[in-house]
Parts: sequence; C-alpha cells; structure tokens
Amino acid sequence: MADTEGKSEAKNFYPEIPAKREAFFLKGAGALDWGMQNRLSRIFNPVSGRTVMLAIDHGYFQGPTSGLERVDLNIVPLAPYANALMLTRGILRSTIPPAFAGGVVLRASGGPSILKELSNEQIAVDIEDCVRLNVNAMAVQVFVGGEFETQSIHNLTRLVDAGNRYGIATLGVTAVGKTLTRDARYLRLACRISAELGAQVVKTYYVAEGFETITASCPVPVVMAGGKKIGELDALRMAYDAISQGAAGVDMGRNIFQSEAPAAMIQAVGKVVHELMKPEQAYDFYQTFRHEKKDAEISVGSSSARR
Ligand code: R5P
Repeated sequence: MADTEGKSEAKNFYPEIPAKREAFFLKGAGALDWGMQNRLSRIFNPVSGRTVMLAIDHGYFQGPTSGLERVDLNIVPLAPYANALMLTRGILRSTIPPAFAGGVVLRASGGPSILKELSNEQIAVDIEDCVRLNVNAMAVQVFVGGEFETQSIHNLTRLVDAGNRYGIATLGVTAVGKTLTRDARYLRLACRISAELGAQVVKTYYVAEGFETITASCPVPVVMAGGKKIGELDALRMAYDAISQGAAGVDMGRNIFQSEAPAAMIQAVGKVVHELMKPEQAYDFYQTFRHEKKDAEISVGSSSARR
C-alpha cells in the first residue's frame, strides 16, 4: 500500500498563479535550447549580461607570443577574474586546472601559422572532443573579404551545425588580418554574415566611428576584441566605449596579459564591463590593485626569506 502519511491535498499548487516565464538574458538567444543557454550563462554573467573573456589562444598561429610563454605561471592566476577563457585544447588539457569554474571558449579553427596565408583555416577540433572537454562555445575565424573567405564561412556553418546538435554555441571571430580596413561598414558586414549563418556570439574590433551600428545590426551579442597592446587607460576607455555602445563584453588578450600588472588590469576591465565604471575610475582601481599586489609580493617575499 502506498505511504499516505503526511500527504496534503492541493495545498501548494497555487492554481491562481501563472507559471513563471522569464526571458533568457542574452540578445537573440531566447529560442536556443536549455543546454546552450546554460552553457552561454557560464560565459556571460547573468546579472550584468556581459563577459570578461580572456583570450589566450594566440599560440595556435603565433607560437609562444609575449606574455604567453608560460601559461601556467602568467595566466592561470588570472583565471579566477575571467568569466571565460578563450584558448586551444592543447593549453586547456595541459595547463588549465579542471576545477576552473568559468566558461571555456575553445579555439576550433586553425591551420596556417603567421608564416602563411592566415585565412586558409580549417576546422581544428571534433565536436566529440568539445563535448569531452565540456566546453561552452567554439571559436572560429571568419575571413570576410579574405582569400579563403568561403572556406572560413564553411568552417563556421559546419561548427554551428555540430554545436546545435550538442548544445554548444559558436563564436564567430571577425576582422582578423592586416590588410582589412576595419571600419564600421566592413565590421557590420562581417558580424551580420556570421550571425545570419548561425553564430550565437560574434567577436569584433572596436571602431571610434559607428560602433553602435555594428552592435545594433547584429542580432546576437557582440564582444569586443582587444587588439594590440595600448596604454592601460586607453584600453579601459576603449572597453567603456564599446560597452556603452552595445557590446556584451570584451574578449581581450594582449591588453591584459601584456599589461605591467595583468591581475590588476583584468579586475579593472571587470569593473568597466560589469559595473560600467568610468574608465578614469577603473584606472584608479588598476593603480590600487597593482600596488596592493606589489605589497603582497613584498610581504610574501620577506616571510619566505625568514623561513
Ligand atoms: C584572433 O585571432 C584570436 O582569437 C586572438 O588570439 C585574439 O583575439 C587576440 O586577442 P587580443 O587581440 O586581445 O590580444
């Protein structure tokens, strides 16, 4: 006989209250399946709706570039301050602690080194390995206007198809290449093509003129690429301007890990991205974090010297 002890009749059903229906917080992602929304929520902070993604995938075509010579020493300590890491599976498996709780955006295209034509990329990872690594999104370069434009777009669409089968998002990375004119007209074209062909997130560069037209005409979140190293205050200004003009965060590499104080810089970027803190104030934070770190290093140094 069924256990009827403690059974209450129609007590907590609240038939008069309609079921909650909350819209998913990311632009263009309302119709995605639960698994993909869940994975995107590990990349984008559901409270601010934005991300500080730390790009460290440069080695896939550049080798051990400046600041990434020792990912274990220079990057792993920054990981707790990032919402997500953008990296290759080689670095993920060999160097990143599996207890890392943030999002993983896996570099999923590659082939040519800096010595060759960069647009000649192919898909560089099997979807099965992405599942095995529990990644949140796959990143693929889209070379609109490049020599191998169609091939790179085909890489994107194949990854989108594979990702849709397993609930893994695809990030389209636009506008990489020295010869391209990075203006709003071109970036609108590249971002829109990536989103139209299925990318759930797009990454592109900031431009001073018309960036808001790029984010407005892209139906999915746009994250701002960092680009070459500039001064810390200028990088914070660029991030602030991009966020103010509709970016859903940053995917920044060199402007963080090549900073004089990377841990301070990534935290200052976080203030701008998640709190929309003014760049000058975030720069003050950077200076404070930076000096606090130095003090901590001095005291750790003295105590270990005493042992
Ligand atoms: C683009 O080609 C790759 O994802 C780069 O490794 C990354 O975007 C570079 O980041 P940053 O320009 O901020 O150093």
